[in-house]
Amino acid sequence: MRAVVHDRYGPPEVLRVAEVERPVPKEDEVLVRVHASTVTRGDAMGVRSVEYRFSRLFTGIRRPRRTNFGSEFAGRVEEVGAAVTELRVGDEVFGIAGGASAEHVTVRESGVIAQKSTRLTFEEAAAVPDGSLLALTCLRPAQPLRGKNVLVYGAAGSVGTAAVQLLAHYFEAEVTAVCDTKDVERVRSLGAHDVLDRLREDFTKNGKTYDVIFDAVGKHSFRRCRRSLKPRGIYITVDLGFMYHVPLAALITRFVGSRRAKLGIGRYRKEDLRLLKELVDTGKYRPVIDRRYELDEVVEAARYVETGQKTGNVVLGVSEAAPGEQPRPLRSTKTRCRREGRYRAPLGGEARDRVADQLRRDEGHPCCRRSPAEFPRRLPRRSSCPRGRPGRSTAREARQEREVWVHRTQLIVAP
Ligand SMILES: NC(=O)c1ccc[n+]([C@@H]2O[C@H](COP(=O)([O-])OP(=O)(O)OC[C@H]3O[C@@H](n4cnc5c(N)ncnc54)[C@H](OP(=O)(O)O)[C@@H]3O)[C@@H](O)[C@H]2O)c1
Repeated sequence: MRAVVHDRYGPPEVLRVAEVERPVPKEDEVLVRVHASTVTRGDAMGVRSVEYRFSRLFTGIRRPRRTNFGSEFAGRVEEVGAAVTELRVGDEVFGIAGGASAEHVTVRESGVIAQKSTRLTFEEAAAVPDGSLLALTCLRPAQPLRGKNVLVYGAAGSVGTAAVQLLAHYFEAEVTAVCDTKDVERVRSLGAHDVLDRLREDFTKNGKTYDVIFDAVGKHSFRRCRRSLKPRGIYITVDLGFMYHVPLAALITRFVGSRRAKLGIGRYRKEDLRLLKELVDTGKYRPVIDRRYELDEVVEAARYVETGQKTGNVVLGVSEAAPGEQPRPLRSTKTRCRREGRYRAPLGGEARDRVADQLRRDEGHPCCRRSPAEFPRRLPRRSSCPRGRPGRSTAREARQEREVWVHRTQLIVAP
C-alpha cells in the first residue's frame, strides 16, 4: 500500500510517498481503508522536531523511531479482528491513529475511532478529531462556561474554529473571537457573538474583560492578557510559550493572585469523539476546511501548514472512493492550475520577481497583507511585521516566510 513516510527529521521535503507493507489487524483491531487524512500543525512540527527538541526523547533522538506520518483519518472498515464486537466490515469511521496518511491503518476498537456521521464527507470527517478534541479538553477545566464571556485568540486555526463552535453551541458561552481580517466573516458564521480583527484592534487595550481567554494558537501570553481577565479569570494556552514558561506560570498563579494561567493538554478519547459525532449529527459542529491536497502533494500540504496561516484544516485525499461512495476531494490549487494549463514550472531570477510583484500588487504581503505602498522592497522580518510575535524574530521564521513567498510565485493563478 502507499503511505507517507519520513526517515529523518527536517523540512517538509523529507516526506515522501512509499510502498509499504499493508498492516494486519490484531485480535482487538480493525483495518481501515483510509479515504482521507489531514496534515495537522502537530504532524508538521513532528517532522521538523526542532521547536521542542526534548520531544525526541520519545520519538527518537537522531532519527524518528516511527517513520509513518499523519494522525487523523476517515475511511471504511475493511477487516475486523476476532475480538472486535462493535465495528463491522463496511462501517464508515473516523478517528486518530499513528500513520493515518496511508491507504490502510489499523486501529484498536477501544482506541480513538467512532462511526462517521452521515452528514459529513470523508474529507470533512477526517478534519474533525484533532482540533476539536484539543479544544474540548483544554476548555473543560474552565467549566461551567454557560453565559460566561470567553475570548478565543487565533480563532481561525484548526483549534480556534473548533473552540468557537464548541463554546457557542456546546458550552453555551458568550464568545468573542480574534482573528485576521480575511477570516472575520467565516469565524462569525461559526457562532461567535463578537469578532475582533486582530490587525485593527488590540483586545488587551479595549478595556473589556473576560472570564476565560483561550489562546488557541499559543501566540499570546498570560502577562499581556492578565489585565483583560476578570478576577478569578483563566488564561488557557495550547503552547508551552517562550522559554517553556507556561508550566511555571501555571504553578505560580495557582497560589499567587486571583487570575490563573493554564496549559491545555490535548487528550484524545473515544467518548469525546462520539460526543463530537453527536454534535455533528445535531448540526452543532462542522469542521472548517481550508485546502485539499492529494497524497502525492503531501510536501506542499505540510509546507502550507507550516506557514501558520491556514484557516481550519488541511485535508489529504488518500485512496479513491469506490463507485457510489463519497466523491473525491477537490484538487489542490497546483493540480487545478496544471489541469487548466495555468501552472508554470518554478520561476527563477527576474521572472520570479515579476510574479512576486504582481502578487504583491494583488494581495499585499502574504504574511501581513500590507499594501504595496507600505511594502518595503525587502521581505520584512517578523519583528517589523504585525503578524509576528512582538519583539521576537527567529531566523527560522524568516526562512519559512521566504519559503512560502518563493513557493507562491510558482503558481500563476491568472484571472
Ligand atoms: N497542547 C497540545 O496538546 C497541542 C497539541 C497539538 C497542537 N498544539 C498547538 O496548537 C496550536 C494551534 O494549532 P492549529 O492547528 O489550530 O494551528 P493553525 O491551524 O496552524 O493556526 C493557524 C491560525 O493561527 C493564526 N495565527 C498565526 N499566527 C498568529 C499570531 N501571531 N497571532 C494570532 N493568530 C495567529 C492564523 O490566523 P491568521 O491567518 O488570521 O493570522 C491561522 O488562522 C499549535 O501552535 C500547536 O503547537 C497543542
